[in-house]
Amino acid sequence: MKKVIIGTNWKMHKTIDEGKVYSQKISEIYDKLNEENIQLFFIPPHTSLVPIKEQMNPKIWLGAQNMHWEEEGAFTGEISPLMLKEIGIDLIELGHSERRQYYNENDSDLNKKVHAALKFNITPLLCIGETLEHKNHGISKEILSMQLKVCLHGVSEDQVENILIAYEPVWAIGAGSIEAEPMYVHEIHDNIRQVLVELFPKTGHDIPILFGGSVNGRNAVSYLKGPQVNGLFIGRSAWDLEKFELILRDVKDYISRN
Ligand code: PGA
Repeated sequence: MKKVIIGTNWKMHKTIDEGKVYSQKISEIYDKLNEENIQLFFIPPHTSLVPIKEQMNPKIWLGAQNMHWEEEGAFTGEISPLMLKEIGIDLIELGHSERRQYYNENDSDLNKKVHAALKFNITPLLCIGETLEHKNHGISKEILSMQLKVCLHGVSEDQVENILIAYEPVWAIGAGSIEAEPMYVHEIHDNIRQVLVELFPKTGHDIPILFGGSVNGRNAVSYLKGPQVNGLFIGRSAWDLEKFELILRDVKDYISRN
């Protein structure tokens, strides 16, 4: 039976109070859903991590949106893996396209962050994705392969078992973007799997690959039909819990039919 990992990054949304309400409600929805083949996670802004951790449903993973690779130092405005470990988060989102676009994060920085996360036993959720320009030039697969090779450089077969990949085409993310065709997503996921197996012959088959970018109630299950699509990474459609609950129910139905 297919196991599916589903989660959301809140980006720069929700105050602490709003976040606590969300976390309480999503916990009730998840318990009611009662589907062990769906693993849920959510990723609030840093300010909400401590208060939410205190009331967190232990079955749900809690993540942070970014961190520095050093444990401490003169890096004003940054937060370290040691600090996040102290909070007790489960995963760290690395390389979201907005971080790459607005804060100049590059694959070499991300490689350092991946190693830092692994050192502290925090699961990296590594985001990769091509721009529309890359896609139009027909080089999506090359770009994604390059991102994987640089970001995962020096990671061992054993360590990679604790990594999640999110494929998020930059052109499919956020308001006003283009919804990706499921066929395209399935093909790209197959290709990402090939690269992972090439890099990690023993464990590459088992690394979960999530899809993100304008996932909604209409298209969620169609993406999951791809054999190498192991989960969904959702923005806007998961911030509204009524919409998110419907997606989770559809995914549960889909799992029970397969
Ligand atoms: P979206 O965001 O679902 O709102 O397009 C996805 C993301 O940024 O991960």
